[in-house]
Amino acid sequence: MRRIVARAPVNIALIKYWGKQDEARIIPYNASLSMTLNNLYTETTIQASEEFSFILNGVKQSQAEAQKVKTFLKNFACDDEINKVSIFSHNHVPTAAGLASSASGFAALTIASNRFFEKDLSIDKLAAISRSGSGSACRSFYGGFVAWESDGSVYQVESSYNDFIMIAVIIETKKKHLSSRVAMKRTVETSPLYPLWVETANHDFIEMKKALLAGKIDKVGELVERSSKLMHATMIAASPPIQYLNKKAIKVWEIVHQLRNEGLYAYATNDAGANVKILTNKTDYQEVIKCLIENGYHNYFVSRVGKGAMIIND
Ligand code: PMV
Repeated sequence: MRRIVARAPVNIALIKYWGKQDEARIIPYNASLSMTLNNLYTETTIQASEEFSFILNGVKQSQAEAQKVKTFLKNFACDDEINKVSIFSHNHVPTAAGLASSASGFAALTIASNRFFEKDLSIDKLAAISRSGSGSACRSFYGGFVAWESDGSVYQVESSYNDFIMIAVIIETKKKHLSSRVAMKRTVETSPLYPLWVETANHDFIEMKKALLAGKIDKVGELVERSSKLMHATMIAASPPIQYLNKKAIKVWEIVHQLRNEGLYAYATNDAGANVKILTNKTDYQEVIKCLIENGYHNYFVSRVGKGAMIIND
């Protein structure tokens, strides 16, 4: 039986993407830059089958969810072909809790479909298709550090320092209360801070590329926190306000700041959810974990810089 398995990593934005200037083609207002993780990923299998089904983390999904996947597959195949496959997707990451499982999910589905339906499309084309599922999915095609610019281009960024560690602190595993798609649109349309966000993000994107290239890791960390803080401030200023951080998340930010005052390398960042990601390094991450545990945070994932999406079984 024909069967393709693909794996795509989670990527965490160091400079966040927030807001679309083109809703149809998913073109962002601002450039973003992410780190690809080695330890959090989605694995997706496509295999020939009597009828279409979509199984996520072992659970057969509803008609509505299956329909979304079918619509996405139209980028690669006709209805008759789509009706003869089953998709099994497994997230090695809490689904939809601010850990970008939709990005890794759509990147894995894209690369698996490309191979299964023998399309042989370029990475640029695949990245553009994946965006229709989740904008940030396009950054999961590359390993290391990845840029996504407002002209739609996606590419790997050079870093002279590769000892970064990202700790994802799991605070909630429930689906987020508001999808990033809805939250972004509301922010663009109603937040008076939005123009400032775009200007600052585009500026910091360039600064981040320079800092990575030069191995200025303190600068990298400062830019990481600034991007996340400004993104959340911009959302809070929307009407009605959008708030993804909760008390437990804010407490982690406080712990991170305290560790930094004590001389450790640690910077915090949040996406559209309460789970906090801590950028640290090989020298200091064990101290950071010790402190998290002392404060009652026992659920976390540790990742290094990882590789981009790939086919693992053909
Ligand atoms: O890819 P989406 O539509 O789920 O949006 C992701 C947005 C953030 O995670 C908050 C930021 C980013 O650049 O990943």
